Amino acid sequence: MSKTRVVILFGGRSAEHEISLLSARNVLNALDRDRFEPMLIGIDRRGQWHLESERTLAGATGNPRGLALDPAAPAVGVEAALVQSAPAAAESGDTVVFPVLHGTFGEDGTVQGLLDLADVGYVGAGVLGSAVGMDKEVAKRLLRDAGIPIVDFVLVTAAGFARDAQAALAPAARFGFPVFVKPSNAGSSVGVTRVRDGDGLGPAVRAALQFDRKVLIERAVDAREIECAVLGNDDPQASIPGEILVHHPDGFYSYDAKYVDAAGSSWKIPADIPPATAARVQELAVRTFRTLELSGMARVDFFLEKTGPSPALYVNEVNTIPGFTAVSMYPKMWEASGLSQKALLTRLIELALERRNARRVLKTGT
Ligand SMILES: Nc1ncnc2c1ncn2[C@@H]1O[C@H](COP(=O)(O)OP(=O)(O)O)[C@@H](O)[C@H]1O
Ligand SMILES: [Mg+2]
Repeated sequence: MSKTRVVILFGGRSAEHEISLLSARNVLNALDRDRFEPMLIGIDRRGQWHLESERTLAGATGNPRGLALDPAAPAVGVEAALVQSAPAAAESGDTVVFPVLHGTFGEDGTVQGLLDLADVGYVGAGVLGSAVGMDKEVAKRLLRDAGIPIVDFVLVTAAGFARDAQAALAPAARFGFPVFVKPSNAGSSVGVTRVRDGDGLGPAVRAALQFDRKVLIERAVDAREIECAVLGNDDPQASIPGEILVHHPDGFYSYDAKYVDAAGSSWKIPADIPPATAARVQELAVRTFRTLELSGMARVDFFLEKTGPSPALYVNEVNTIPGFTAVSMYPKMWEASGLSQKALLTRLIELALERRNARRVLKTGT
């Protein structure tokens, strides 16, 4: 049996560049080498693509070979790059790309579009699911329409805020304070502010507008952060839920609590929640996955209210390319559910091929 070539695509131009490198190393280490032949492509902070060796990914110095990939000529560029750089594997087996790219230009459908044009299969959601999953405002509208509980929000656009800031903020008065302000398209808590009073609202919106032209103001919920991993295409399955515990003085799962302060957060798998709540998390995770037209994988993040006799549960957001480091929640929740990292990667690659093959047989014209 010829091996399937797995192109691990990592790095990228987002704030999560470093996390992507850690994820890529972990994917490489956990990959079943009896079945898959890894190939590494790194995207540097300027957006240039390079063919990397396992040594350079491991941190050794060396000159990665430039791929001269021209994103302006995607079909030619990707195909040529993939085929030319590993001709031996190209002759025999299949090729699947594993985009281990978080945030903009990776998780948002752009790379997925490039790969669709080149007719290359890839792990995770397609163009539509990736783009919708990345845009919190569009995702929340679709979830609300499907009857899935979300935290109430107000949309502020760059144009609306520039025209009349006061009028743009006025609808959020119904939430009182505190509120959360966040860019619609971002991640890693970049641009997210917890606002205590009216004086802080304008500056927080202005800060968030640096990252996107759409900003959400949300009612603040005093909540536990529950996460659930979903795996599959047409028949998605949910893992055992986990919980993130935040210890950082910011008081929420901020950028510092995530990445800067090593003691800023900890995790617990399984989450310490009643079985009925866990079942509800899993049910909502799968419904969210279907509603947003995702495929392959996603981590669905929830807020579970801390108080009350029957605490409310909300879907906060989805991550279509969740962290894949050795200590990331997505692979760990599957491990706790009985799926090793190696088996998980094999399944993700199979799902990518299934999805590509199902699309290949569709008619594209008359
Ligand atoms: N409405 C909210 N109520 C309470 N906490 C929130 C709210 N929105 C965001 N947060 C806090 O901010 C963190 C980051 O927000 P999130 O919407 O998950 O954006 P990101 O995509 O950057 O992770 C959350 O994990 C949570 O700690
Ligand atoms: Mg989040």
